[in-house]
Amino acid sequence: MNHAVTPKGIPLKLSSDCPAEFSLYLTLSPRFHRLQAEHSAPPTRAAFGFKAVHRESPMADQMSSAAQAPSAILPTYARADVAFTRGEGCWLEATDGSRYLDFGAGIAVCCLGHSHPHLVDALIDQGRKLWHVSNLFRIPQAEELARRLVEASFADYVFFTNSGAEALEGAIKTARKYHAANGHPERFRLVTFEGAFHGRTLATIAAGGNPKYIEGFGPKVEGFDPVPFGDIEAVKAAITPQTAGVLVEPIQGEGGIRVPPASFLRALRTLCDEQGLLLVLDEVQSGMGRTGKLFAHELVGVTPDIVATAKGIGGGFPLGAFLTTREAGRGMVVGTHGTTYGGNPLATACGNAVLDVVLAPGFLEGVARKGLALKQSLAALQDAHPRIIAEIRGEGMMLGVRTHVPNTDFAIAARAQHMLVIPAGDNVVRLLPPLIADEEEFAEAIAKLGRACQQLEAGLAAKGNGPAS
Ligand SMILES: Cc1ncc(COP(=O)(O)O)c(C=O)c1O
Repeated sequence: MNHAVTPKGIPLKLSSDCPAEFSLYLTLSPRFHRLQAEHSAPPTRAAFGFKAVHRESPMADQMSSAAQAPSAILPTYARADVAFTRGEGCWLEATDGSRYLDFGAGIAVCCLGHSHPHLVDALIDQGRKLWHVSNLFRIPQAEELARRLVEASFADYVFFTNSGAEALEGAIKTARKYHAANGHPERFRLVTFEGAFHGRTLATIAAGGNPKYIEGFGPKVEGFDPVPFGDIEAVKAAITPQTAGVLVEPIQGEGGIRVPPASFLRALRTLCDEQGLLLVLDEVQSGMGRTGKLFAHELVGVTPDIVATAKGIGGGFPLGAFLTTREAGRGMVVGTHGTTYGGNPLATACGNAVLDVVLAPGFLEGVARKGLALKQSLAALQDAHPRIIAEIRGEGMMLGVRTHVPNTDFAIAARAQHMLVIPAGDNVVRLLPPLIADEEEFAEAIAKLGRACQQLEAGLAAKGNGPAS
């Protein structure tokens, strides 16, 4: 059942003369304190060439900050010394009451922003009824969400998970099982790509190929053959009688918002068809409306066999999924795969609420249009600050700013302006705003990034690297 909501999520009848994505959303608190920049710790440098196979941990780099109070959390992250107590729309409020413009959205997760009224209502409503029953029983909320995803996509079936990595695990298993069910269990290998990121489980670190995530964790999971991203001849050369398919992000996220030419994804489809291989897409970051289409592969008119997705699908509630055609999923029969939590009533009620908004008429078109406007404003910012910004790239609201200065310096300078952006590979910072962000928030973002650029230019000048602008 689709609900009538504005893309900001307020149940409301849509008027035809008012662009839906700029509809009423008057929840911003007047309390907005600009605090002094407090982030003075030297940033960790990350130097990633576009062709670089592997990168430093972007999050770890971003988070390097001042010495912190001890914590009982296993220290696998170097966290920024800031904590948030509440969020509204595109804004987060920190423990000291100051407000941050959140253009990271929890790494592309909070697609409806924070405390979205429709999502909050769905969570509370379902939370009062039933949270969890296990997949031993039918789950109407999950069936509804699966039906809607199938209707809106290439897929015939959906399997729900709790995370992106689990969605990838399921997608990889499905591709392998397809060939086993066809009498070719030896076809288990996937061609993968340098600069990819597919998660942190043992199979997905092997698929991603970054030694930093692989080393020290025992034998690498077999079956992944990395080639340079965008190189169709290298893909052809990597195919053997053991190849099951190709696993690729249509736009590399952690790798630095690397957008391959449309011809590359189309050539992959053709190659897979010719060789009897499955085209498996990782749309964990690029999916669920982020690029202005429900899935990024729609931008280039390529139909995959299997897609893994997560992040935005739950709008902040942990949820993932893999989608498959009937044919590609033919090996996944009763008993071949399972999950305790995946697709439980609470998670899939949230997923349905997200879809209510994302599939509302005009919403995805609005993401594409607003994303283009933001990209143009960023290009103007590049013109104004050519010593800081090298390139703007991406699709929809999945945008990357490649910088001349270390990307971590840029992220820290933005944070000093109380704006959150996320470093990635290839010396890029990602702008992944909530999809409900509007022109006013874009203007605020550009103003903040402009001040961040000025601060960085002043830093260059102080080091004797030319005038401040
Ligand atoms: C493209 C891609 N695949 C997979 C993952 C892993 O998702 P998760 O962290 O939810 O396991 C991520 C997370 O950043 C991602 O960006």
